[in-house]
Amino acid sequence: MSPAPASAASQLPMAKDFSGFLSLEGATRKKSPLKSLLPLMRGDMISLGGGLPHPSTFPFHSLSAQITGMRPAAGEAHQQKAKTASSDLVTVPLAPQPDKIESLTASLQYGTGTGIKSLRDFCREHVRSTHQPQYQDWDVILSAGNTDAFSKVIGLLCNRGDKIFVEEWTYPTALETLDPLGVGHIAVEMDGEGMTATGLRRLLDNWGSTPEQANESKPRVVYLIPTGQNPTGATMSVRRRMDILAVAQDHDLILIEDDPYYYLQFHVEGGSWMPSLLSMDTDGRVIRLDTFSKTLAPGCRVGYMSMNARFCDIMQYHNEVTIQQPSGFSQAILAEMLVSHWGQEGYTRYLTENVRTEYLKRSQYLQTALKSYINSKLASFIEPSAGMFIWIKIHLDQHPRYKTVKDSVLMLELFGKCIENNVLMVPGWQFSCKPKPQDVDAADVLNCWFDEDANYLRATFAYASFEQMEQASIRFGRTVDQFFSA
Ligand SMILES: Cc1ncc(COP(=O)(O)O)c(C=O)c1O
Repeated sequence: MSPAPASAASQLPMAKDFSGFLSLEGATRKKSPLKSLLPLMRGDMISLGGGLPHPSTFPFHSLSAQITGMRPAAGEAHQQKAKTASSDLVTVPLAPQPDKIESLTASLQYGTGTGIKSLRDFCREHVRSTHQPQYQDWDVILSAGNTDAFSKVIGLLCNRGDKIFVEEWTYPTALETLDPLGVGHIAVEMDGEGMTATGLRRLLDNWGSTPEQANESKPRVVYLIPTGQNPTGATMSVRRRMDILAVAQDHDLILIEDDPYYYLQFHVEGGSWMPSLLSMDTDGRVIRLDTFSKTLAPGCRVGYMSMNARFCDIMQYHNEVTIQQPSGFSQAILAEMLVSHWGQEGYTRYLTENVRTEYLKRSQYLQTALKSYINSKLASFIEPSAGMFIWIKIHLDQHPRYKTVKDSVLMLELFGKCIENNVLMVPGWQFSCKPKPQDVDAADVLNCWFDEDANYLRATFAYASFEQMEQASIRFGRTVDQFFSA
């Protein structure tokens, strides 16, 4: 997709006013007066102000990395060359140079809460060209990854005692973020495409009908992982995305679109990615979280969040008093690679030719291996079309002791047998939204299985070698056979 021309962008609506959605914390965050001095440092200004350490005391004289070569050009001959010329050396300039990214001394210095300009501009342009937001006043700000971004968004919108909607199987770290903040969650049913719009609408339409809800205000925030969902691997169709957004408009909700697996879509139809919720939002009610964790490396600890400008300002104020900005080393090397070296075109090609292709191959390999070695009447899965995960359902109703023993007892037994046979998957209960008993140590994974409906194991094709995936499938198939015959 190419970015909307400037004239078309100016015809777009402005974001609605969502100030009423701010939490006490969000509403009271203010720009740091200290940071407000930084933009005044231009031209002939001599600063005896901010406490910036002197760069001569930085022991770093250069920052270089050997990176995958993605030379900008087009055509068949180039594609071949790009594949063979697989490594390039990039070096961040130590001193400022015209038309270059920030110097190393600048990236390693204190900065604003937005992230360095060149990298932020790159991310903004990437969002503009990929998602083409449908309102004028959106913006992008850097984060230290989606974990950091999510906890800040919760701070922006939720007070202790509030509840938010989540998918019925969800990313455990999200729940672990909410719990200590006293923010509750309400599970919304899922199907093979993730959260259902009908389930969400039903909950909202009937809100207040149960005694517990009688004194509770209607939740106004939804957290979802629309692409290659963690843990189910589900990806929302375009229709589903539109339906979810329609519910959000009808019930005036904010959507948190946590989308780390967006670029791990295996089948990119017509060369374009699945439309994001952000791309369909004309109101400014979607907060989109992107991260370089799955596309470059998790240790970079750099991501970017897109949202209406009012919210973006408050996220900047939050950054200013927490991380300040992502690590200067990470930002400097990412900017040199993405801005000066690959460009938008090279990064997009890296995503499609390297990241997507690798995970497609891996996903197909593990799926084929599992299908070859597991009796599908005993354990099965829906083929994921994105992400890193396969959500394996165990058909406990086929077990000889199904009627006499609790599901959780059987699942714990199966998990124990998997460990005995040296194959590890994540127990399905770890992604459950149901409350865990307080008196049991949930870290004692060999002795606990919560949630009678969690008859699942999560497998990933992201990390193991192809040989290991084959071996693990053989071991798991054998374990399943033993378990169901006992
Ligand atoms: C749904 C989801 N959100 C966020 C993250 C973490 O992202 P980051 O490394 O950017 O903090 C993960 C990683 O597993 C994830 O699955």
